[in-house]
This record gives sequence, C-alpha cells and structure tokens, in this order.
Amino acid sequence: MSRKRLRIIITAGATREPLDPVRFISNYATGTFGCQLASEAQARGHQVILIHAQLESLKPKGLPAIAVRTAAELQSALAAKFSWCDCLIMSAAVGDFRVRRVARKKIKRGRSKELTLRLEQNPDILAGLGRKKGKRVLVGFALETENLKNNARHKLNQKNLDLIVATSMKSRSYPFGSSRMDGLIIAREGRARNFKQAPKKRLARILLDSVEKIVLS
Ligand code: CTP
Repeated sequence: MSRKRLRIIITAGATREPLDPVRFISNYATGTFGCQLASEAQARGHQVILIHAQLESLKPKGLPAIAVRTAAELQSALAAKFSWCDCLIMSAAVGDFRVRRVARKKIKRGRSKELTLRLEQNPDILAGLGRKKGKRVLVGFALETENLKNNARHKLNQKNLDLIVATSMKSRSYPFGSSRMDGLIIAREGRARNFKQAPKKRLARILLDSVEKIVLS
C-alpha cells in the first residue's frame, strides 16, 4: 500500500537561554528521539524539516535542517514554516523561562557571594500553534515527575493536540539520551498505550503509524 506523502516538521533538542556571552540555562534533553523520528519519517518517504536546538545525538543525513538556539528563535522558525506542514511533532525540550536581561559582558564573580537572576516566561509555542492548527496533526510531548497520565492528558487538551508522548522522570529509566524509554502515547479520542523500556526506534515507528492513521481518517 502506498502511503500519502506528508510534510512533517519535527523539532528536537534542548533550547538554551543565554545569561551572558558565555553562559546559558538549558535542560538535559539530547534530541535522540526527535532525530530518530526524523530518520523514520524520511525513510517512509515523507518530506521532513528538522528544526533543532542543541543536539547531543547525530542529525540524520540529507535532511533539511534549521538550527535554533533559544525558545524565541524556535518560535520564529516555526512561525515561518508552520503553514507548509501537514504535521508538527514537537519533541524539542523548550525552556520555559529566559533571563529578563541578558548581560552584554561576562558576569564577573566580583565580591558578591550570591547572584540573583530575574527570569521571565517564554511563550508556550505549541499551545500558540494549537490555536491555529487547522487540519494539521499536532504531536506534543510531556515530561513529568508526577501524575503522568493526568498531566499529559491536560497538556493534550490545553495545547489542542492529536497525540502526546508522555514520559515519566520518576521511572527507574533515565529518558535523556537513552535508547529506550518508559511512557505513554495518548490519542485525543482517549486511547492510551503504555510502554516499558521500549526502544525509541520502535516508539518512533508507532508514533508515525498513528500520525498516518489520523491523516487518513
Ligand atoms: N512546549 C512549547 N513551548 C514551551 C514549553 C513547552 O512549545 N514554552 C512544548 C514542548 O515541546 C512539548 C510540550 O509543549 O511538546 C510540553 O512540554 P513540557 O515541558 O512537558 O510542558 P510545559 O507545557 O512546559 O508545562 P510544565 O513545564 O508546566 O510541565
């Protein structure tokens, strides 16, 4: 059976919010799963654009890619490309806060024993795109330390998603950079599939199967 060739944007990696010219705030995401999704989507013949923040894993070869650093840059890149896509898979780990005033020069140790940083919230990029999704399929992620299923379902509704991949930080497995993960894939109509130590490659195939099914329905 030939499948419909989709235009898919996949975001991956960890955004970085600068403090000064030499420092930043970020998170432990490596972009492994996002890159695997991009490879699998490409292998299926879909048109893929990878918009990536900091990656610790290898970018798939031969794929159009846009590099971004901060959440604001990711938001701009998505704003420019969103109308092109049939599906957005938002696996990037977006920093929720940025430093209100980035120092233009390196912050020196000085005499003070403490440093107070004032942070302000970044916009919720996915929720913003969810408000103007039209017929597009939107896939989000949820990383939780508690109430995995409820929090993920809340994000699915609040961001107007079709699917959400929920991962628990409480599980014995460490999700960052590992080749397997525990978690749930929850669909809008309520179906949830549980995974224990599933290879991310397999999850990427299952997720893309679900996306293709939604597009065909
Ligand atoms: N996300 C986003 N913009 C943000 C934060 C997150 O687009 N400023 C996206 C992520 O890429 C992910 C989903 O929203 O697909 C959920 O991200 P997560 O960090 O789990 O949740 P938050 O919405 O940030 O909520 P909270 O931090 O309160 O759990």
